[in-house]
Amino acid sequence: MQKITVETTPIEGQKPGTSGLRKKTPVLMGPHYLENFVQSIFTAIGGVAGKTLVLGGDGRYFNDRAAQVILRMAAAGGAARIIVGQGALLSTPAASNLIRKRGTDGGIILSASHNPGGPDEDFGVKFNTPNGGPAPEEVTNRIFEATRTIASYDILEAQDLDLSVPGEIKLGETVVEVVDPVADYAELMESLFDFDAIRRLIAGGFTLCFDAMHAVTGPYAKAILEGALGAPEGSVINALPSPDFGGGHPDPNPIWAKPLVDLVMGPEAPDFAAASDGDGDRNMILGRGIVVTPSDSLAVLAANAALAPGYARGLSGVARSMPTSRAVDRVAEALGIDCYETPTGWKFFGNLLDAGRATLCGEESAGTGSDHVREKDGLWAVLLWLNVLAGTRLSVADTMRAHWRAYGRNYYTRHDYEAVDKDKAEAMLEALRGRLEDLPGQSFAGRRIEMADEFAYDDPVDGARSTGQGIRIHFEGGARIVYRLSGTGTVGATLRVYLEDFVDDPARLELPVEEVLADVISAADEIAGIRARTGRSEPDVRT
Ligand code: G6P
Ligand code: ZN
Repeated sequence: MQKITVETTPIEGQKPGTSGLRKKTPVLMGPHYLENFVQSIFTAIGGVAGKTLVLGGDGRYFNDRAAQVILRMAAAGGAARIIVGQGALLSTPAASNLIRKRGTDGGIILSASHNPGGPDEDFGVKFNTPNGGPAPEEVTNRIFEATRTIASYDILEAQDLDLSVPGEIKLGETVVEVVDPVADYAELMESLFDFDAIRRLIAGGFTLCFDAMHAVTGPYAKAILEGALGAPEGSVINALPSPDFGGGHPDPNPIWAKPLVDLVMGPEAPDFAAASDGDGDRNMILGRGIVVTPSDSLAVLAANAALAPGYARGLSGVARSMPTSRAVDRVAEALGIDCYETPTGWKFFGNLLDAGRATLCGEESAGTGSDHVREKDGLWAVLLWLNVLAGTRLSVADTMRAHWRAYGRNYYTRHDYEAVDKDKAEAMLEALRGRLEDLPGQSFAGRRIEMADEFAYDDPVDGARSTGQGIRIHFEGGARIVYRLSGTGTVGATLRVYLEDFVDDPARLELPVEEVLADVISAADEIAGIRARTGRSEPDVRT
């Protein structure tokens, strides 16, 4: 096996976004594209000689090919060991767990998360650091710098490895260790949750449906929910990972998981339903007659986490991304623990988790997790919910009712305007930015603005400052609008408008969300001039 050095030149646009480098698959499959980026990761971490890395992905189109290239490059760089999931599969939380458990120098995850997969769809490459979390900006900036100066990369000339059976294979001097992608993760879940209590709940007739959306969580959910916890076969649906996710978007929200929403609203509704995304880090929670918003889910889990053995000692603190509703803030207040507000992006939770300041964290974008790994974790959220329900024996809907009665309800929705002209979207936010000082005191749709600013975050652990993280408008009485541009879109700009209002009147806790938020929604358009400036009269997606 021969190591070869291939000359290359920098490729424009290899700047990692909210979650690694995401591109259309044909772009990532282009000449030298993947190789340039992977070599730049290696450069940014001081080379891979003698190092151990984890490697795996969500099984989307090009996952298998990309994994073989990365293995040959890691071997050419002199890596000591690469721990790779069988079939090059690993869910994102399982990869994070392996990085931590095996004390590796980091890992590479192949995924474009909830975005569709296929020859014309999306692909992504992400580097996670030795704490198991997505690389912080300081590292992604170094990777980006390396992509701008790269002149060559090293790769081994070798046949593809057979990754279909667990065991060790030599690739040059590097040991490639193929592992069962599920085993270590399942063991971690069993250490956190009361599997006996959940088994009893299910044995007593509690029904559940988990939609793996043809993505990576299929094998995990089968092994844990149907295997270890005894849910009847068929409780996990769409369980076989497929390279194009069965032609759909593996995005667990009311739009892309509509069949699941229809199921829980219909006569055959199970007691509990859930879905996860392409790489297994997102979650959606549903119950008979109800879809739980991610922001509410975080609040409920924080309020009840102590029912699970892994959290029985209480939470050190909680954290949420800025646009996430402030429902969890009220729980933190009641528990007397800190609540941190971070920019969008799971990586911002890393320091808080590492420093033991936060135990649970979550985002409006269907991400919930804890200090057990350094990624959000879809199945973990499902298991914590099941553990809570096994303890309270309440239905999902009654759990929410009880929660709102105790803490009040943060009605919440997000409106997305997709593939908007980038210049127009930026100009709209720029114009708004220029008016922030004048807004307090003004009223829109009958709501008076109390505060308006652009969110900036000073990391309390390392002092790093992140600016330009979204425009916030706070109204008297607790309503809020947030405007920001997505950092994960692949076409044009995606404008996200996050809308929230707080209600604690016991008579108004179960109203339709769009009705309660009607004024806030009109105010959002009036304040920023969304229709006028983007030419869009309706959002593409409402979550
Ligand atoms: C990814 C990240 C999340 C983030 C989400 C939405 O899933 O891991 O941390 O909240 O994308 O990001 P966006 O920038 O598109 O709103
Ligand atoms: Zn994901």
